Amino acid sequence: MQNIKLISHPLIEHKLAILRDVKTEPFQFRMVVDEISHLMIFEATRDLSLREVEVQTPVAKTKAKKLATKIMICPILRAALGMLDSVFTIIPDASVGFLGFQRNEATAQAEFFYAKLPPDASARTAIIIDPMFATGGTAIDAVKFLREKGVKNIKFISIIAAPEGLKRFSEIYPDVEVYTAAIDEKLNEKNYIVPGLGDAGDRVFNT
Ligand code: URA
Repeated sequence: MQNIKLISHPLIEHKLAILRDVKTEPFQFRMVVDEISHLMIFEATRDLSLREVEVQTPVAKTKAKKLATKIMICPILRAALGMLDSVFTIIPDASVGFLGFQRNEATAQAEFFYAKLPPDASARTAIIIDPMFATGGTAIDAVKFLREKGVKNIKFISIIAAPEGLKRFSEIYPDVEVYTAAIDEKLNEKNYIVPGLGDAGDRVFNT
């Protein structure tokens, strides 16, 4: 699975231990989700294209580089809202395209309920964010939705992933890179990631 990029870094490992801990309070959980997202976006945007610009420093004129790629950050509601601030802070010129999927507790399947994309979505590189990559179902539906809207370049950032979901996703979208900080052991019978961290949305929003 060439499209799966495991981001491995001591600071991320340390912060993951805090996220996984059932004793971590919601306020600290939110803070650490924010910090990990900050570190992950740095790696996930390594190959963005640049354009040359000329700037006047206080000392002289010089050539410098700015982003040539227009970005659309796509948080999957609701858990990804915990990642949005840090990603948006790093790429402040991005647009945000919301994607709403809700887990049906009876079927454990994600169901689409909302989307709000910028008008020029198809001209942008989409960075989908969702802290948990479990069955891959939501990820597949989200990419399918964006492709139907004409979005060609898509990346996915997820803090923790399950091998089952990554495999299923990669068979359908081998061209979409998925950046994750951890590939866990498996899914349980309720499609929660094991060991995972529980329900990310509940832990972010203290519900
Ligand atoms: N969503 C979560 O929040 N946690 C999981 O373990 C799987 C999906």
